[in-house]
Amino acid sequence: PASTQEDLFEAVIAAEQRIEPRDWMPDAYRATLIRQIAQHAHSEIIGMQPEGNWLTRAPSLRRKAILLAKAQDEAGHGLYLYAAAETLGVDRAELTEKLISGRQKYSSIFNYPTLTFADVGVIGWLVDGAAICNQVPLCRCSYGPYARAMVRICKEESFHQRQGYELLMTLMRGTEAQRRMVQDAVDRWWWPSLMMFGPSDADSPNTARSMAWRIKRHTNDELRQRFVDMTVPQAEHLGVTLPDPELRWNEERGGWDFGEPDWSELTRVIRGQGPCNAQRVERRRAAHEDGAWVREAAVAYAAKRSAEQHT
Ligand code: 3HC
Repeated sequence: PASTQEDLFEAVIAAEQRIEPRDWMPDAYRATLIRQIAQHAHSEIIGMQPEGNWLTRAPSLRRKAILLAKAQDEAGHGLYLYAAAETLGVDRAELTEKLISGRQKYSSIFNYPTLTFADVGVIGWLVDGAAICNQVPLCRCSYGPYARAMVRICKEESFHQRQGYELLMTLMRGTEAQRRMVQDAVDRWWWPSLMMFGPSDADSPNTARSMAWRIKRHTNDELRQRFVDMTVPQAEHLGVTLPDPELRWNEERGGWDFGEPDWSELTRVIRGQGPCNAQRVERRRAAHEDGAWVREAAVAYAAKRSAEQHT
């Protein structure tokens, strides 16, 4: 029988090829990609706030320059991802409105406070480390624009992770107080970093379909396990302990067994009851409103230019 658009779509996915913006795609494929790419973009933009908290208080010009470069990278990742989302027929103004009104999500991890400068290092090491585990497979996502955006973003993320780990190594070679500061930050960020990968597979409504459509290439639990296996040796090398009494090497599996994250905390934070949710969204709303004049000026200038070209 003549192949339907659906058959063609399925054949492209099965052949590990890319779906491009002008290709036919099921409405649900488009909708779940808009959902995930928009949330990913929102996360990058909101993620600038926790680190921005230390921009004016970095302990040296070098640390300030690195942190400034990282925050600028995150902004760029956000804009890149909004551009990828727009290839699916939405507009970034609409997505920003949904973020500010709480109708779209961003990563739970950015709702925790950055209490000391060691948090900047731990965010680079653990949060960007987790992001790398999650984002490298997305380079093989079936939707072209998203996969291609990920290639460039992953290159910059590895710099983010390395600068964080180097910052922590420096602190660990410092005073006892500095070493305690690092351990305190690790204790606060370890479990929220594991929650970045999402709920367990059994409680993940989107994973099965995202795997079938090759948007996701591994499940939440698989990526979480990969992150733990990668990070435990790094913690040992750094000289910090991870706050999980159930962490132990599993010989026959060749990986680390670890405790259960507190899923009720993840649910609370996703629902908006995390430590910093209100402040993060309020800051985003204020920045959007304060920037309205720039958008209006750009639109007025574009109108003036096009009027000149048609006279
Ligand atoms: N924070 C907020 N919401 C979360 C979440 C988290 N940590 N984990 C899951 N959720 C939400 C999901 O969005 C979904 O809600 P929705 O249907 O309304 O969107 C619900 O909880 C159930 O979760 P699922 O596992 O079914 O949802 P997904 O299949 O979408 O998996 C995900 C969640 C793994 C986060 C996936 O969406 C994903 O890979 N997103 C892209 C990557 C991303 O956003 N990474 C994190 C932040 S980016 C970053 O860290 C930047 C770096 O520079 C620091």
